[in-house]
Amino acid sequence: MSKVDVVLGSFYGDEGKGKIIDYLGTKADVALRATGGNNAGHSIEVDNEKYVFHLIPSGILNKGTLAIIGNGVVIDPKVLIEEIENLKSKGKDVSNLRISTKAHIIFPYHIEMDKMLEENRGSKKIGTTARGIGPCYCDKYERCGIRIEDLYSKKFKELLKTNVSNKNKIFKIYNYKPVSFEDIYKEYLEYAAYLKEYVCDTTILIHDLLKQDKKIICEGAQATLLDIDFGSYPYVTSSNPTIGGIITGSGINAHDIGEVYGVMKAYSSRVGAGPYVTEEDNSVGDLIRELGHEYGATTKRPRRCGYLDLVALKYAVLVNGITALCMNHLDTVGKLDKIKLCTAYKRDGREIQEFTTNEEELLNSTPVYEEFEGNFNDISNIRKREDLPKNALKYIERIEEYVGIPIKFIGVGAGRDEMICEGLYEKNN
Ligand code: IMO
Ligand code: MG
Repeated sequence: MSKVDVVLGSFYGDEGKGKIIDYLGTKADVALRATGGNNAGHSIEVDNEKYVFHLIPSGILNKGTLAIIGNGVVIDPKVLIEEIENLKSKGKDVSNLRISTKAHIIFPYHIEMDKMLEENRGSKKIGTTARGIGPCYCDKYERCGIRIEDLYSKKFKELLKTNVSNKNKIFKIYNYKPVSFEDIYKEYLEYAAYLKEYVCDTTILIHDLLKQDKKIICEGAQATLLDIDFGSYPYVTSSNPTIGGIITGSGINAHDIGEVYGVMKAYSSRVGAGPYVTEEDNSVGDLIRELGHEYGATTKRPRRCGYLDLVALKYAVLVNGITALCMNHLDTVGKLDKIKLCTAYKRDGREIQEFTTNEEELLNSTPVYEEFEGNFNDISNIRKREDLPKNALKYIERIEEYVGIPIKFIGVGAGRDEMICEGLYEKNN
């Protein structure tokens, strides 16, 4: 039986999961998404053509690869259809797409609710992507959500009517404009007809594929510190982007998991609000943002930037069972004169190496840094780890030593192939 290799974000998202997925995807028969929705975003450039993915697993770009959207994903059908149409317009074959009958659907009232709740948070905004993700997951857990299979059921009309009526009662309290049942019903019936050919029981399908020894790559969205349980609550997303979410979001079982790749950058970034111990809210952060082009693929927002936090990384390894690290943007930190690496938090006069998700404790923590020499020069042509400049090697070896996990992929430039992927470091294997 084959195993599912999983690619996860180790920090606050935007670690460059797409690049690793893209590389591994060419070796996979199946690309799977299990969590989140169109709050995720990654772009891939193939043959001078840029593709931005929010919902469809990007593995679909490889001819013959089956792309599965699992039950744990929340789907905005309008966005999904736009993505399908965009791929078709570029001559890509989308017939290999499969959508879980059990995935929940984002409706316009979820998006309105997301915006309304954010407005009402005043100074305590989460900085959501305003895509309706949180309210959709709320309905899932409240058990009034509408799933893909419901679109094809006789009960759809009544379900939607009840939901719209209940949401409009809430909108009224907040002095928000009501949404129209008729408009939404008509619109979503059209979406249902369009998507029908792709819908199936993906859990059964995945297990069949595993039995046939097919290689499955699961494309994680968001990241560990955005996890509803293990992240910096409440400044998190509304799902479990950690390893558990991959299981519940697809129906694979714990034994089906193979490699767990933790994607990280050689520095750190965060979008939206919430504590961020190694943030450099100053000219250093500005410089990293410019050098690393840290602007959102989904919302275009400038990202907060700072140094790499090994306390948090060790936590991500612990929570997810990461078996190998994938580090992007080594070239970017190499452009700095000095690089700092956070190896502990200082809190109440003590040095601490255990990560905490407690907001007050995080806000009370200051980073303890080790300093490394930068100025790696251009490393974009290097494809063997041992050819990296000494300063770069020192930096990555310290990271591996600290977390006890090998870095098997190293991004040395923005290009698709600008990556060292030898997995040379065998110390922990
Ligand atoms: P990828 O897959 C970075 C953040 C939002 C906000 C919080 C909650 O590209 O790494 P939500 O709309 O999910 O309710 O917003 O989570 N967030 C992300 N930040 N990358 C992402 O995905 C994110 N998805 C959500 O900025 O702070
Ligand atoms: Mg993102």
